[in-house]
Amino acid sequence: MNVAFQLNGRNIHADVEPRMTLADCLRHVLRETGTHVGCEHGVCGACTVIVDGAAVRSCLLLAVQAEGARVVTVEGLSSDETLSPLQASFRKHHALQCGFCTPGMLTTAHALLSDEPNADKARIREVLSGNLCRCTGYIAIVEAVYEARKAYQK
Ligand code: FES
Ligand code: FES
Repeated sequence: MNVAFQLNGRNIHADVEPRMTLADCLRHVLRETGTHVGCEHGVCGACTVIVDGAAVRSCLLLAVQAEGARVVTVEGLSSDETLSPLQASFRKHHALQCGFCTPGMLTTAHALLSDEPNADKARIREVLSGNLCRCTGYIAIVEAVYEARKAYQK
């Protein structure tokens, strides 16, 4: 099937099997490999992308379900030259080690702060509870998201 959607501001189309997930379409068809795939059944959050403003697990969405949508992956959060405020804050707070969970953390946090720029630490913890990290623990991640709020409060 042919599917067309907006990916990081570009209009794209792709030929996909009807059963192909959006995660596999992004990685294997469109070669946007920033989106990671861990559990493949909606538990780890590594595959989180933003679809029409909402954080969505791309392993649970079929590519054909993205027809006409605005999809933003971790590649779309920053330009080639500069880190996004969230990325810079993750770097500052050492909020990653292996980095496998990080694309999902960033997209989840971006969707949260875009809607709720005044989210407190309890809210940040609640939202990030759907994203698993096996390296860092969560204190530095929560601190990084909390500090990045000011970039969303303008
Ligand atoms: S790979 Fe999608 S939630 Fe784990
Ligand atoms: S930094 Fe390694 S899983 Fe989170």
